Amino acid sequence: MEYSTIIVQREGRIGIITLNRPEALNALNSQMVKELISALDSLNQDESVRCVIVTGSERAFSAGADIKEMVNMNSVQMAMTEHFFPLWDKVGRYPKPIVAAVSGFVLGGGLELAMSCDIIVASETAVFGQPEIDIGVMPGGGGTQRLTRAIGKYKAMEMILTGKRINAEEAYKFGLVNAVVPKELFIEEAKKIATKIAEKSPVAVKLAKAAVNKALEVGLTQGLDFERELFYLLFSSEDKQEGMKAFIEKRKPDFRGR
Ligand code: CAA
Repeated sequence: MEYSTIIVQREGRIGIITLNRPEALNALNSQMVKELISALDSLNQDESVRCVIVTGSERAFSAGADIKEMVNMNSVQMAMTEHFFPLWDKVGRYPKPIVAAVSGFVLGGGLELAMSCDIIVASETAVFGQPEIDIGVMPGGGGTQRLTRAIGKYKAMEMILTGKRINAEEAYKFGLVNAVVPKELFIEEAKKIATKIAEKSPVAVKLAKAAVNKALEVGLTQGLDFERELFYLLFSSEDKQEGMKAFIEKRKPDFRGR
């Protein structure tokens, strides 16, 4: 697929998707949604890619869903076109880890996209918000659920009901982002994390990600049962043999994803 709203690159074992609609501060429109889904599918199918980074520009990760595209849409059109939902499903259930590298505006659907990823690295200039209330709607891409799980009911309620934005330092303090770095370094920092992940066993990474995500969905006993099954499963992988043998032989493991 030819991309007009995103740029897709591969650097070693990392796939990098850059949102690229600078004229609209990377607002998410249906074309971008289609392209993101296609890019994520192709990076998932590519066995050489072990971790994905989703990023934007220094000025804006994304200012949210494209308001100009939605202004004349009614509820039936939103429901029948499933506006955005295939993207939230795709990112939320993506098998490989995704690191969001964000800077500048991280608003509305932009924040929801970042929160659907697994790790968030922020530039010191990042501002986070769910401003949908200011335009007469509410978050529709998981914001009420994911932000509440990330920072707790009271802070989430204030952001969602008043449209209040928080800066990168606050986001770090609240546990919404993994790291805050100078604006020149946010993509580099994301690459460092992605590179570390990409060195591990892709099988173990995939199952560990699934287990952590399960913790947000089920009770403790069910979650522990799920974890145990995946843990046992890993004992039949070649990567487990390689990892444990490499430890004993005092060498670096060569994980193949088998
Ligand atoms: N949709 C469409 N266009 C957008 C946009 C959006 N979400 N955000 C910014 N733009 C456009 C602006 O219209 C402007 O285009 P023009 O030059 O053609 O007018 C351009 O991007 C630059 O924006 P501004 O001139 O407004 O830049 P600024 O620096 O003064 O302000 C901003 C930046 C605070 C992010 C402001 O643009 C803004 O408030 N944007 C809207 C944020 C928002 O409400 N997001 C939520 C969308 S709804 C949603 O996401 C629903 C959901 O849950 C899925």
